[in-house]
Amino acid sequence: MLELIGAGFSLGWPVLAFLVCLIIYFQASISDPVQKKNATFKAIIGIFCGLLAFMAIANYTKNFNDDPGVLPVSLVLITAVTFVMSLYFANIGALMKIGGFMFFVAAALSGYGNWLPQVEGGFPPPVVKLDFQSMSSQQLGDEGEKIIFGGLGQSKVQGAIGKGQCPLCHGFQKGFLSERAPNLFDIPARAKTRLEEPNYHMNDPASRPSVQKESFEGSGTATNAQEYIAESHACPNCYVVPGFGVKGSNDTESPMPIIHKAPISLAMGELAAVDTWMYIREGLEAPAYDEIIASYEKFIPEGDRITATDDEEDAGAAAGGVLATGEEPVNEIFMKGGCVACHIIPGIEGATGKVGPVLMEGTNAPNRIKDAGYKGNATSTKEYITESILNPSAYVVTDYPDNQMPKDFGKKLSAGAVNKVVNYLSQLKEGQDPPPVE
Ligand code: HEC
Ligand code: HEC
Repeated sequence: MLELIGAGFSLGWPVLAFLVCLIIYFQASISDPVQKKNATFKAIIGIFCGLLAFMAIANYTKNFNDDPGVLPVSLVLITAVTFVMSLYFANIGALMKIGGFMFFVAAALSGYGNWLPQVEGGFPPPVVKLDFQSMSSQQLGDEGEKIIFGGLGQSKVQGAIGKGQCPLCHGFQKGFLSERAPNLFDIPARAKTRLEEPNYHMNDPASRPSVQKESFEGSGTATNAQEYIAESHACPNCYVVPGFGVKGSNDTESPMPIIHKAPISLAMGELAAVDTWMYIREGLEAPAYDEIIASYEKFIPEGDRITATDDEEDAGAAAGGVLATGEEPVNEIFMKGGCVACHIIPGIEGATGKVGPVLMEGTNAPNRIKDAGYKGNATSTKEYITESILNPSAYVVTDYPDNQMPKDFGKKLSAGAVNKVVNYLSQLKEGQDPPPVE
């Protein structure tokens, strides 16, 4: 309420001040004491009504988009104004009474409408539902590029990354050597030969060395290239490309996140779009949409399939290069930055990555700085974390390879975002509960 009075006043003060001046001027010219008292009273009523009217306008403009539920407050205020005016200003009373009654009815109706239980008020933002099924191969491929890289044409931009987060780990350009994960150029052709590799065990999944033998009980293995790609996304642990397993797992466990599960959570149509792009960008003909969907149905149980596809906004969320502005709560920054794909972060849901160390930095950082091999510049926990994010090679945690953690977070996270991340991580200590996520 006070806030509303303030808003009304800050909006209308020039007019109100002008009214006050005018009134003081006229007051001075009235000599009859009764008339004078009467006029003073009316002046106060007038100014009060003026303020109410401005409060109504302020409430309306302020909450029109954000909180339409409180708009009837404006109507109630205007109604009050008209009634008060009609009571005290007899010459315009009739007009005001009619106007007031109309506003009263409008306010009552809309107030009642808002009071009814409802999910959300006002106008929901337009949601673009993508109909993947009816797209041409080219359109589907375009959507795939957006999901992987954050935008159309972004596959050629160094460091571009989208909702799928694949470029965090994978290179896609021919000849690009990547230490984190296999280069995905040529994957349609390579997929076929993978089925023949000794550890794949196409006909006998039980003898696979990997921690997980099948995507789910009875799902079996892939029998063609597209099914291999689908299995790679739906069950990274089912077959681990030699040399790329989780550190210390002897290639029995994959660090790749399950793509149809949180945090990446690609829907069936999105998975088909990603795969289609990987074929057509090499000039190959992609399998038909239904064929791709069928390949995923083999490895994703019905209950785990996401069928409602997200709007465009999400797919292109990372377009433009900046992953997080710092406005977001810290868990969202970890999500958008892709940290969750590589790190376990206590207190952050979905941060289950196994490429890098657990980010228990309140405990880790002081030990790193003390390490004889530490050559960085940090002298405090917060400095160490900041350095690790902005310049990961300054100190490479023992037993982890260099060049796994992306080196361009300095460009992709705003200073505010880095600050929030550093603040959070510095509070994570062995044996203590993680701090609340805002
Ligand atoms: C956190 C890192 C990471 C992310 C993110 C990631 N992957 Fe992977 N991916 C890997 C690693 C490591 C391997 C190799 C180990 C294995 O076979 O699981 C791999 C394997 C694969 C393979 C099999 C490659 C081959 O040569 O047989 C495919 C296909 C693949 N990923 C596609 C994707 C796609 C598409 C995305 C994005 C939607 C993605 N990955 C996201 C790390 C990642
Ligand atoms: C592609 C995988 C990957 C991604 C994505 C990634 N990291 Fe890392 N990170 C690593 C690896 C591997 C190491 C260990 C090697 C090293 O020190 O560079 C590491 C090390 C760190 C360390 C030092 C840990 C310690 O205990 O000394 C911090 C802090 C860190 N990462 C924070 C982040 C944050 C924050 C993000 C997201 C903005 C992120 N990482 C994203 C792979 C990744």
